[in-house]
Amino acid sequence: MADYITVDVDRDAIPRHVGIIMDGNGRWANARDLHRTQGHAAGEPALFDVVHGALELGVKWLTVYTFSTENWDRDEFEVSFLMQFNVDLLERRRDELNELGVRVIFMGDIEDDRVPEILRDRIHSAEELTSDNTTMTMVFAFNYGGRVEIVDAVRHIAAAVANGSLSADDIDESMLSRNLYLADMPDPDLIIRTSGEHRTSNFLLWQAAYSEYVFTSVLWPDFDRDELARCISEYQQRDRRYGGAVDRSPT
Ligand code: IPE
Ligand code: IPE
Ligand code: MG
Repeated sequence: MADYITVDVDRDAIPRHVGIIMDGNGRWANARDLHRTQGHAAGEPALFDVVHGALELGVKWLTVYTFSTENWDRDEFEVSFLMQFNVDLLERRRDELNELGVRVIFMGDIEDDRVPEILRDRIHSAEELTSDNTTMTMVFAFNYGGRVEIVDAVRHIAAAVANGSLSADDIDESMLSRNLYLADMPDPDLIIRTSGEHRTSNFLLWQAAYSEYVFTSVLWPDFDRDELARCISEYQQRDRRYGGAVDRSPT
């Protein structure tokens, strides 16, 4: 891994918000006769190389999918490994993130009883330590599911209608957006998924309405800042039309 980006990318057209579905840790480990959990461990240096790359490029928001609401269905050993891994990662990395000017935010159901108390504690201290940082916001989508996020927002809005403080006619898209977990998070411009899978797996369903997706077959532990730059360069070739027409008028 180089400690700076070696791939050609237009530094004047960097997406403001990049989301990453970090997938393929288990397959990376299987291919080496290692346990799946060793694949997760190997994903940590990849993630931090990407953080450095994102900072080098000037990305303002980086959202990484670290644990989905469906990942509880994995075997108990893997789930408890992942919980402890997050504790260790926050302990190991929070000072580095803070020194880099990164604001850390967790997005998802952290109050869930299945989330260990010690992890909740480490999450709160990392968020608190970094809360004034402005160089980049790093969102950990953890115990996150796009559908349940929308359901929670609808529940809030319905409660306001039920108590008479809101009329159903006033509900619109921006109100729903404001009731999602992070009201001030801009929609992602680019969503990357590694490991050759072509699906959202419940990541940022509402926010991704007009995101560009880039899929790569690279397994997450092999991803790095140059791969990030390659994905951004592919994004830069796209024509984001937001429903508009292709302009074919003669020049
Ligand atoms: C992604 O890698 C990490 C998490 C979902 C926590 P996987 O563990 O899904 O790896 P594969 O997809 O089985 O290879
Ligand atoms: C998505 O990967 C979740 C994370 C990367 C945290 P999964 O491996 O859980 O998704 P599926 O099961 O392949 O759809
Ligand atoms: Mg997977």
